[in-house]
Amino acid sequence: MRGTFGKMGFILAAAGSAVGLGNLWKFPYMAHRNGGGAFVMVYLVAVVLLGLPIMMAEITVGRSTASNPVRAFRKLGGAWWSLVGWLGVGTGFIILSYYSVVAGWTIEYVGKCLAWSAEGFTKADAQRVGKDFMAFLARGDRQVLYHGIFMTLTAGVIAFGVKRGIEAVTKVLMPLLFLILLGLVAVAATTSSFGAALESLFVPGKIGVRGILEAVGQAFFSLSLGMGAMLTYGSYMSRKESIPRSALMVCGLDTLVALMASVIMFTIILGVPPDQRGKFGASSVILFTTLPEMLYNLPLGRILAPSFYLLVGFAALTSTISLLEVLVSWFIDDLGWKRTFATIVVGAATFAMGVPSALSFGSSDFLSTKFAPLAPKATGFFDTFDYLAANFLLPIGGLLTSVFVGWYLSSAFTRKEVEEGHGPFPLHLLWKTLLRFVCPGAIAWILYSIVFQGVKFN
Ligand code: PHE
Repeated sequence: MRGTFGKMGFILAAAGSAVGLGNLWKFPYMAHRNGGGAFVMVYLVAVVLLGLPIMMAEITVGRSTASNPVRAFRKLGGAWWSLVGWLGVGTGFIILSYYSVVAGWTIEYVGKCLAWSAEGFTKADAQRVGKDFMAFLARGDRQVLYHGIFMTLTAGVIAFGVKRGIEAVTKVLMPLLFLILLGLVAVAATTSSFGAALESLFVPGKIGVRGILEAVGQAFFSLSLGMGAMLTYGSYMSRKESIPRSALMVCGLDTLVALMASVIMFTIILGVPPDQRGKFGASSVILFTTLPEMLYNLPLGRILAPSFYLLVGFAALTSTISLLEVLVSWFIDDLGWKRTFATIVVGAATFAMGVPSALSFGSSDFLSTKFAPLAPKATGFFDTFDYLAANFLLPIGGLLTSVFVGWYLSSAFTRKEVEEGHGPFPLHLLWKTLLRFVCPGAIAWILYSIVFQGVKFN
């Protein structure tokens, strides 16, 4: 028996999948590095022209077959196309294994912040925070422990199934996440650098090719596209719901969260005098090194700091459950395994797969620096996996999905499916055209640029 989401269930779960470390950590830092406003503009265009059509395509394949990615592509396209499903399952396995490691860091930081809030965040703490973070990264035992805890939490939710697990958890966590984020934006709005933050985020400046590529790649990762997560959630969507409206809501919410997170981060960054801002530069670790101090400088910092890391953890959890569900659904549908059993086995395997990533932040010299098959583009186990997944596997999955739904599936079929639960859909031709030409063209250009021009994303 396959589950089905209740009303709003799909939107909340899918938004939960989309909103994650990509929005709260990657997006603000990439926007900052690429000149703010122009990056945001390109990103918005990418979401509308690529993200929205491909998300609708994934949901269409999922809902029309009520199957996991492998079976869905096989049902509609035969054995060869089922390879796209396999690619998705493989990509999900890879992403989940390392994503859970970073997600685990939030557990440490919620704990740290609670202690700081209780005892006060002192100057000495501020000076130590960067070094402490590096030391924490290099502690293999901690890394593995938190990764294990995060995988256990994820598996715990998935074991309860689609309605009582995924839907129930995202129904609580998503509104909560939104509230915490709103609270942080409200506090940011009371500080003097808020205006400057808005300006640098929304007034476009210059952007280079690399920035454009990063914006497009980020849209994929952030919207959870290209590996079957939206397809799998789509397979649990009720036939009474509208695919175009749901996809629009999910893309809108995901973008809104990325922008809210950026407003908060930019306000904090710009609140620091320019001569002390150097260390933010291109650093992707500011979330754990400079942010605690900044949060404690804000009004209500003692409440905001732990809430913030809790928020990041929640956002990551609703993303990891979508990744694990893709894998588990295959074992349930195709091998006939019981959900609990499948969850334990797959959860344990993913945990094991993530251990080398957990040890690649300094605790193992081999995994941290020597393991570099893709050097100089990526160094270390974690980096290599992230590079491979975000820059190749997701875009390739998205490209094949858009070709499949754009060219292989007949217009009669796709029209019937998107109109079910929606009513007449006059934009069908536009959607098909985007899937046929714009999406494959843009993605092929990205892949070409990465391979032949050495543009690196992360
Ligand atoms: N979209 C998630 C984020 O922004 C990451 C993710 C990618 C989740 C792919 C599922 C599938 O953090």
